[in-house]
Amino acid sequence: MRRFTSRSKRWVGLAVVVGAGLLLAACSAENNRQNSLKPQGPQAHKIYNLFTPVFFISVVVGVLVLGAVVVFAVRFRYRAGKNENPKQIHGSTPLEIGWTIVPALILAVVAVPTIITIFDLSKEPTGDVVNVTAIGKQWWWEFKYPDQNIVTANELVIPAGRPVRVNLTSCDESLPNKCNVIHSFWVPELNGKRDVVPGRKTFTTIEADKPGTYLGQCAEYCGLSHANMRFRVIAKDASAYDRWIGEQQQGPTVAFQTGTGADTKPAGPAQDLMSTKFQCTNCHSVGDSKVSSYGPNLTHLASRTTFASGYYELTRDRLIEWVHNAPGLIPMQSKACREAGEPAAGKCVGMPSFSRDTPAGQPTMTQQEAVQIADYLLQLK
Ligand code: CUA
Repeated sequence: MRRFTSRSKRWVGLAVVVGAGLLLAACSAENNRQNSLKPQGPQAHKIYNLFTPVFFISVVVGVLVLGAVVVFAVRFRYRAGKNENPKQIHGSTPLEIGWTIVPALILAVVAVPTIITIFDLSKEPTGDVVNVTAIGKQWWWEFKYPDQNIVTANELVIPAGRPVRVNLTSCDESLPNKCNVIHSFWVPELNGKRDVVPGRKTFTTIEADKPGTYLGQCAEYCGLSHANMRFRVIAKDASAYDRWIGEQQQGPTVAFQTGTGADTKPAGPAQDLMSTKFQCTNCHSVGDSKVSSYGPNLTHLASRTTFASGYYELTRDRLIEWVHNAPGLIPMQSKACREAGEPAAGKCVGMPSFSRDTPAGQPTMTQQEAVQIADYLLQLK
């Protein structure tokens, strides 16, 4: 009976291993679009070309070692009546030398292509290079195009077939409270991870062979909504890219007036809500696609396909929900945090809820007001 139990335990163990394997295999589903084994650009190809031989060397080593373990375990297992000790080989000089030198040689061989690839990937890009700056913030990415003088968020639009030097930083020099925490920029189909460290400037090069959308993900723990800190690289063909740049460089499609100065025309109701009642404009730039802000620049929000760090498709319903109660869709600042200090002072980050947990003295947003603001934002093409 005892034997039967231990055997069923073994079957349960095997089932768990097989189940976990199948579950993990699902992570590499055909179209998850974050698959570094499906390289879509020259940098990713270099990594893949290194990964493949190293993987097969590891498979050979793994099979030999595990095979030996299994063979020895079966051959020298306990047998009733035959439990004499095997011959002891402790101190065998040839064996000691062999299993020191062989792994060292394998590692030395693997090191050659590894080091070549590392140096290759950190070279300055050459040719018709596009310069962008990616600033990691909590929990979204700001993308600046210094040569074109535009600022956008969460969707990095690039021309296909041209190298893009992505300058990485988590400090925004144009803001008083300039430094954010550590993040990591990662678009698995285009290149490896590169950390974005406060106070340091690094870069990575990406290039997409073909037009398309490539999914990115922050790959360094950066607080509450790290896991939701996604982004997209959208590669366009040359003419579509130029058109996009031209559109982004234009001023807002709907002029944003605060209505405070004596000469300004009165603002529309949605603009009043945004600049005065709920003060969205403290954190978001709405009328100038050239400037950074604490929250994403919204001047051309409606030209994007997603929002909220690429987490949600940009649809009217989602946007209304977001304006009303953003932390209900993605965990962000709480009431306690808002009461503790001004968002701009860096004491709390992320968008507040305007419909629940409203601190004393702050207005609560009605559904109708959220609709008005969202409908206004959706005109910002
Ligand atoms: Cu940003 Cu994790």
